Formats: sequence, C-alpha cells, structure tokens
Amino acid sequence: MQPHSISFDRAASFYDDTRGLPADVARRVGDCAADLLGAGARVLEIGVGTGRIAKPLLASGLRVTGIDLSLGMMRRLIETLPAGAPEPMLMQADATRIPLQDGVFDALVAVHVFHLIPAWQSALDEARRVLTSHGVILIGNNDSGEDTPYRRVRKQWEAFVAARGYAMDHPAANKVDFVKAAIIASGMHRDEREAVAAEWPTRHTVRRVIDDIENRIWSQTWQVPDELIPATVAEVSAWAEAEYGSLDHEFEVVNTFTWERYRS
Ligand SMILES: C[S@@+](CC[C@H](N)C(=O)[O-])C[C@H]1O[C@@H](n2cnc3c(N)ncnc32)[C@H](O)[C@@H]1O
Repeated sequence: MQPHSISFDRAASFYDDTRGLPADVARRVGDCAADLLGAGARVLEIGVGTGRIAKPLLASGLRVTGIDLSLGMMRRLIETLPAGAPEPMLMQADATRIPLQDGVFDALVAVHVFHLIPAWQSALDEARRVLTSHGVILIGNNDSGEDTPYRRVRKQWEAFVAARGYAMDHPAANKVDFVKAAIIASGMHRDEREAVAAEWPTRHTVRRVIDDIENRIWSQTWQVPDELIPATVAEVSAWAEAEYGSLDHEFEVVNTFTWERYRS
C-alpha cells in the first residue's frame, strides 16, 4: 500500500511561530512571485498551510486558491488574515486528486510540500492538468545553508536514530530534486537561475535546535517511534556539547528564500 501524505494538523498551533517569515521578507517573497508570474495571475497553491506564502502572494496582487489536507492549518490562515486583506479561496483537498477543472490556473505554487507526498508523480500530473497551456510551476524554497550547526545537529540526530535501527525517509532535498527532474522530463523548461527573493540572518542556540527535535517541531521527527526520542536526544546533546563546548553555543545562519520557475 502507498504510504500517506503527511498532514500538518499537529503543527497548526506552532507552525507560524517556528517557520514564520519576518514581515519585510514575506513582502519580498510575494513581490518576487508577482514579478515572475505577472500581476493578477490566477495561482493554485498546493499545501497552502497557514498561508505563510499565500498571504504575501495575495498582498502582491495575485489571485490565490489554496488546497491542503489539514483543516487546522487552513483555519489558522483564516484566523490570522489581517482585516480587509484579500482572501484566498480555500479547499480541503489532496494535491494528488485536485477537485478542480482542467486548465484554470496561470501558475501552480509549491513550497515545502512535494517531499510530504509519496505519490508526488500524481500531484505533478494534477498540477499540469489544472494549468492553462502557458501555465507556470513555481517552486519555493526556504533554506538556511548546509554546513551550519543547525543542519549538523539535526543530521547527527538522524544518524543516532538510524543507529538504533530506524531508517528515516529520504532527506527532503533529494525528493524535491526527483520532482524537479520529472517536471523537466515532462517537457517544461526551468529558468536558468533561481530568483533569490530574500536573504536574512537569524540567531539560534544549539540547545534550541535540540529542543525542537525533542518537541517534535519538524515533520521529519514525527515518524520516529516515541521510545527512540529520549535516548537519541541524550546522545545528540552529548555529541553537541563535545562539538560546540556548550549547548548554549550561539550561532547565526543566513536564510534564503528562492523561487524556481518552470515554463511550458
Ligand atoms: C511544510 S507545510 C508548508 C505550508 C506552506 N506551503 C508554507 O510554505 O508555509 C506543508 C503543507 O502541505 C500539506 N500537505 C501535505 N501533503 C499534502 C497533499 N497531498 N495535498 C495537500 N496538502 C498536503 C500539509 O498539511 C501542510 O499544511
């Protein structure tokens, strides 16, 4: 049996606090998308979530329909929409079976969602179906760099989990690479360069990265059996203390938000 997509119901109450974009960054993300798609374009965002991306797209003049498996995430979107702001059309639906007509959108937007969909190939077929013949796919990525304590601590924790016999799924980045290759194989062309919408620094402590693992803030942690968490958190804490001298070690990461555009 095909495994299920990962719904974010359990993250609805903390998603915006842990993934939210600063206001000026959100504005640049929306403006950059509007530049790439043209003012007033009709956009479908799959995995719209709490509207972290949809709200800036709307504020930049795009017309947004959003679908998501999680009602809880979309409820947050509605609750946090500023008074008088343009509203998206929302629908609880699976991106692998979009209950909408063929050829009605100028663009399909996907940010941090394809890696959660085991049947991503069907989601891609559906994306192509609902786009007009000149429709565009825009894939957004919010990244904080490879060789940071942020990434290294999480990788090391995954290694401790694996050492206890639990094989974690593909790293998200690899899976999205398969999706991108399939988009190109389907005959679409990618812009030569990704558009960097924004770059901004944030400060963290090693302890906070480990707390986020223990509190199951990241979706990668949700599949790991409960009984493995205390032991692997203790192991990664000891590793991090030796590596960085203290769990209070502070570091800065430079975050980027990029858009990649694919055209027919
Ligand atoms: C990591 S969140 C990203 C939300 C938003 N795009 C953002 O960048 O903030 C992924 C969202 O995709 C939704 N999702 C996962 N699989 C899905 C599917 N097959 N169809 C529709 N939504 C899905 C989850 O419920 C979640 O709200």
